Amino acid sequence: MKSFHDRVAVITGGAGGLGRAMAERFAREGMKIVLADIDAAALDRTAAEMRSAGARVLAVRTDVSQSADVESLARATLAEFGAVHLVANNAGVGPLGAVWESTERDWLWTLGVNLWGVIHGVRVFAPILLEQAAKSGTEGHIVNTASVAGLISPPGMGAYNVSKHAVVALTETLHHDLARCTDRVRCSLLCPAYVPTGIADSERNRPEALRDPNHVKSEEQRALEEGLRKAVQSGKISAADVAERVFEAVRDERFYILTHERIKSAIAARMEDLLAGANPRNPLAVR
Ligand SMILES: NC(=O)c1ccc[n+]([C@@H]2O[C@H](COP(=O)([O-])OP(=O)(O)OC[C@H]3O[C@@H](n4cnc5c(N)ncnc54)[C@H](O)[C@@H]3O)[C@@H](O)[C@H]2O)c1
Repeated sequence: MKSFHDRVAVITGGAGGLGRAMAERFAREGMKIVLADIDAAALDRTAAEMRSAGARVLAVRTDVSQSADVESLARATLAEFGAVHLVANNAGVGPLGAVWESTERDWLWTLGVNLWGVIHGVRVFAPILLEQAAKSGTEGHIVNTASVAGLISPPGMGAYNVSKHAVVALTETLHHDLARCTDRVRCSLLCPAYVPTGIADSERNRPEALRDPNHVKSEEQRALEEGLRKAVQSGKISAADVAERVFEAVRDERFYILTHERIKSAIAARMEDLLAGANPRNPLAVR
């Protein structure tokens, strides 16, 4: 995408973390911003702060796992700004535990937000971008947030890994599908490693109906959560750094956005093991 000024960006999970950083980065280019998030209080706070910094912001409370919410997000965007050019399907949550320890509700919640959120975002917004491109040659871009957990399979986060591998598959396929019909609408795949954000506390926004009040977490699950909190907090690359990389990739029409150089050895190890027919090494132990 070459022009940003006065164009419209929709960013899910935009109330905090990576989503907010992307919103602020694209607002600096003069884009109009639509923030979508399930957390109404954080959404209002972020929108107010961005507006007082001079950004044009529409805030739409949205649960991305619900198709009706994503459809009304698109309607609200078009009603307010008349068009949409950039869509960042970014909202995500990350419960932990051995594969068999994740409850049915853990799976439903994780796949609902991380995978169905992206499916709904693409299903609802790609036709709008394609129609604009067909009518007037307008450029569009979709950025889907996966994770390095979509390229490797670290232990203790099965539901998250499954959701993120699926987002990688969906977005690579989207790239090919778009290329078959237009050069005006493109997509990128964001795969960060640890970045200090609220991801280790994503339980804060779990809907009541998907909570497990009677589920007692194992010692191992608690240790995994503590480990994730430490790893996320000590991440050396900030959300603003990631947002800068996203902006550059959209501007330069690059698909893969891998923000953490050191994790590439674990991705290479997975591919080597796979092609050699070897059993998978623990990606967190690969240096
Ligand atoms: N921070 C990291 O280390 C890291 C690493 C790799 C990938 N990611 C991915 O980055 C994305 C953003 O996460 P983050 O790190 O900024 O975490 P975060 O918790 O700071 O932000 C996530 C946002 O998504 C919102 N959200 C949660 N459920 C939602 C729903 N159902 N509908 C709409 N919004 C919802 C939250 O309210 C929050 O504002 C996620 O997809 C996450 O998996 C993060």
